[in-house]
Order: sequence, then C-alpha cells, then structure tokens
Amino acid sequence: MNILFMGPPGAGKGTQAERIVAEFGIPHISTGDAFRLAMREGTPLGQKAKEYVDQGLLVPDDVTNGIVRERLQQDDCSQGFLLDGFPRTLSQAEALDQMLSAMGRKLDHVINLKVDRSLLLARLTGRRICKSCGATYHVLFNPPKQEGACDKCDGELYQRSDDTEEKVGTRLDEYISKTAPLLSYYADKALLREVDGEKEIDTVTADVSNLLRGRG
Ligand code: AP5
Ligand code: ZN
Repeated sequence: MNILFMGPPGAGKGTQAERIVAEFGIPHISTGDAFRLAMREGTPLGQKAKEYVDQGLLVPDDVTNGIVRERLQQDDCSQGFLLDGFPRTLSQAEALDQMLSAMGRKLDHVINLKVDRSLLLARLTGRRICKSCGATYHVLFNPPKQEGACDKCDGELYQRSDDTEEKVGTRLDEYISKTAPLLSYYADKALLREVDGEKEIDTVTADVSNLLRGRG
C-alpha cells in the first residue's frame, strides 16, 4: 500500500505514521527525519538543509526530490511505503507523480490530518522526541511515564530546534502558502481523504486504519 500523510506542522503525521507503519509493515519515509539525521551527521546535505530547517523554511525542491527518489528505489519500499512530509509544494507533487509512474506505481491513499491552527502551536512547543529511537511525546498531551525519558528505550528526550514559537509561526506560514494548495491537487485526483486530527491519538489511529482498510 502506497500512502501519503498530509497536514500542517503538528497535525500528528509523525505520531500516526509510527503506528500505521507498524500495523501495515511498510517503511516510514519522512523528509523531515532525513534532514535532521543529515544535520546531526554534518553531511553536505545536512549543511544545506540546516540553512532552511533552522529558519522554518522549506528546503529547495531539487534537494528534497533527490532524497525521496533515492529512498523509493530501495528494496524495502517494494511492498509499499508511507510518505510523511513530502510532497510539500506543487513541484514536489509533480516530481513524485513522475517518480512513481517511472516505477509503474501510484499512490493508493492521501490522508489529510485536519487540526485547527489554534491547537498547533501548543502541540509543537510541547513536543519532545527520543534521541535514541525517535519516538514522539508531548509534555501535556502524551507525556512519558518518567519525565525526560523514553517509555520504549529509556533514551533521553529533546526538543527540536524548530519547535520554538517564532519558528513554528514561519512553518505554519510556509504550510499555508506552499503546501495547503496540494489538498486540491489530490482532491482533483479523487485520492484525498480527511481525518479529524483533533481527537485522541488512539482514536485518530483507528480512524486512519479503518480508512486504509476500506472501512471508513
Ligand atoms: P517535518 O519534520 O516534516 O515537520 P512538520 O511537517 O513541520 O511536521 P512535524 O513533524 O512538526 O509535525 P507532525 O505532524 O509530524 O506532528 P507530531 O506527530 O510530531 O519538517 C521539518 C522541516 O524539514 C521543515 O520545516 C522543512 O524545513 C524541512 N522539510 C521537511 N520536508 C520537506 C519537504 N518535503 N520540502 C521542503 N522542506 C522540507 O505531533 C506534534 C505533537 O503533538 C507531538 O508532541 C505529539 O505528541 C502531539 N500530538 C500528536 N497527535 C496528537 C493528538 N491527536 N492529540 C494531542 N496531541 C497530539
Ligand atoms: Zn526511545
């Protein structure tokens, strides 16, 4: 199954992706995670991405498209994949269509997690992530059992550098001007399905899973 998750920063794409890939046994492809890994490792890609990510701006399309093209060709994507955070511009969406058609494949589901802008700032500024396994928590909405430590691996939790109030504002503006227009791109292809991302995390997972299994 070839799935795409859409939604503004903080909608819950990463949280839900973690659960859905475990349920369906497909790889999670997050361009945000790929950039953060490259930034931590200090590779040329990471240095380039840092100029943009640290400001809350989108990384240029040619850089981003290259990463996804390479990733989709890896063996573990042959049975399906879940794209999270890509595409984010019309030009990325068109590039994805070309990549998939060259591979004789297509998207099966585009899921948009809908969350009002008023909730997103609180979600993002309270987010904490495990340094070791990448699991996502929230200080209020999804706290770990022990403060500052991951439930799954006991790893240390950290806050993303772009989760400050100022950068979240820029990220939301980027989303509205460049990414939100993609919703009509996928609606026109009759692929878009909306899920209420404001419900409890478990309820959202069940709603997404039901949609993917044709029970929505
Ligand atoms: P990326 O990492 O993709 O960030 P994002 O899209 O801004 O999305 P987030 O990861 O912030 O949010 P999410 O929807 O995954 O929410 P989460 O599940 O964590 O991108 C980062 C940067 O990389 C970009 O700004 C850009 O610079 C660059 N980049 C990436 N892709 C790119 C591309 N294609 N083109 C160009 N540049 C690109 O949840 C958020 C919080 O809310 C968590 O704390 C969670 O616990 C909590 N939460 C989740 N669900 C619920 C719920 N139902 N109820 C209560 N709390 C909840
Ligand atoms: Zn962990």
